[in-house]
Amino acid sequence: MTYAFVLGRVYTLSLAELLAYFKTLQSPIKIVEASFELLLVETDKALDVERFQKHLGGTIKILKIVDVVKKREQDSINFCLQNYFKPSKLKADFLKSASGKIQFGVSVYLLDPEVRAFGEPKKLGMFIKRAMQDSGASIRLVLPEFNSLALASVVVTHNQLLVKGAEICALAGKDKVYIAKTLSVQDFEDYGRRDYQRPSRDDRRGMIPPKVAQAMLNLSGAKPNDTLLDPFCGIGTFVQEGALLDFKMLGTDIDRQAIVGSERNLEWFRNRYKIPKGKFHVEVADAREVHKVVENLTKLKAFGKITGVVTEGTLGPVYGQFPTAHEINQNFQDLSELYTKTFLDFNSFLGKGSKVVMCLPAYRKSGTEYVMFPNLDFATSSGYNINSVIPQEIGLLMPFLRITPRGSIIYDRKDQVVAREIVIFEKL
Ligand SMILES: C[S@@+](CC[C@H](N)C(=O)[O-])C[C@H]1O[C@@H](n2cnc3c(N)ncnc32)[C@H](O)[C@@H]1O
Repeated sequence: MTYAFVLGRVYTLSLAELLAYFKTLQSPIKIVEASFELLLVETDKALDVERFQKHLGGTIKILKIVDVVKKREQDSINFCLQNYFKPSKLKADFLKSASGKIQFGVSVYLLDPEVRAFGEPKKLGMFIKRAMQDSGASIRLVLPEFNSLALASVVVTHNQLLVKGAEICALAGKDKVYIAKTLSVQDFEDYGRRDYQRPSRDDRRGMIPPKVAQAMLNLSGAKPNDTLLDPFCGIGTFVQEGALLDFKMLGTDIDRQAIVGSERNLEWFRNRYKIPKGKFHVEVADAREVHKVVENLTKLKAFGKITGVVTEGTLGPVYGQFPTAHEINQNFQDLSELYTKTFLDFNSFLGKGSKVVMCLPAYRKSGTEYVMFPNLDFATSSGYNINSVIPQEIGLLMPFLRITPRGSIIYDRKDQVVAREIVIFEKL
């Protein structure tokens, strides 16, 4: 079976998350193709698509490949598909369960950025409509707006395309076009709820978006029921997302107000998402001596051994505008001191091979250039290695990926002064 995963905006993070998730499931895959929009994999067994979709913050849609059409490099996508859509084929591949007026959505994704595609979804939509009308069926088409080539997951959901018809996707490379059917789309409303409907929010402190928290939790390679620690938990985003992914979560923060906010949020979260009791615990602690809380909980047998740390950390002061070089250097120095003590403290409870997935501040100089932490000595001199977020042998095959020279990923948003550099450390 071949599946295609439509990657999120920060596609390197999406891809890293997917590969890490497949690894924890120990389900063998063969990478068929990858681009800045898609990862195509072949699997022996059918995937639990619903579970994948819920677990992967960086995956926008999951598609199943139903066919492959050859294409000459000079041909447009619509030229190569002009006679492809036959009513019998459409019914067999896309409409097994739909009845009544059929709704078709059309999206095009590129496997190669050089492939020309202007107004392709509209042209493909016309072929589909013509074929279906010739067979006497009544259909409604939903097409991407403006210049986009693909329907957003919100459009697929609101038009009930997966219930009342199908979304047909053309995944176009230089020499072939894969025809795919959308099996699931990201539940954007639920991610929004987990972010914005929490009773406690704190924009000043900064909160990590639940999708990114989920991706980082997956990067830790933890398995269900493993215990993870967020020693800078703020109002508890990693704790809630980790509990939802079936990990046991311990969250600590130096600020009592943050822990009060976390507790309120987690109570709301536990009720809303039916999380069993005992899945998480939050407490006030300085990260530099978090071992005290860990030891107490272990003694009380409240939690098993901590198998990894996933945290945003503290990014330093909140700047209203781009900070000066002096401010940035000062921040890096202060954080280095804090993190050296924190990583040394982790040594008392983390075992060999444990992962610490964390964010460090990075400041955008221009386009894709950032001022990053000058070095990661706080970790490497405390007994940790830096792991590349994407295994090096795979990264080499995918030159489009945006990986920093030290193997980390930058997660950035246009409206924010500070970006997050996501780094994976491994205890030696
Ligand atoms: C960027 S916020 C984390 C936000 C969190 N990821 C969330 O989504 O709610 C950083 C947190 O680090 C905490 N912090 C700063 N210094 C600390 C220390 N030495 N030990 C523990 N927590 C600390 C701050 O109180 C703050 O809540």
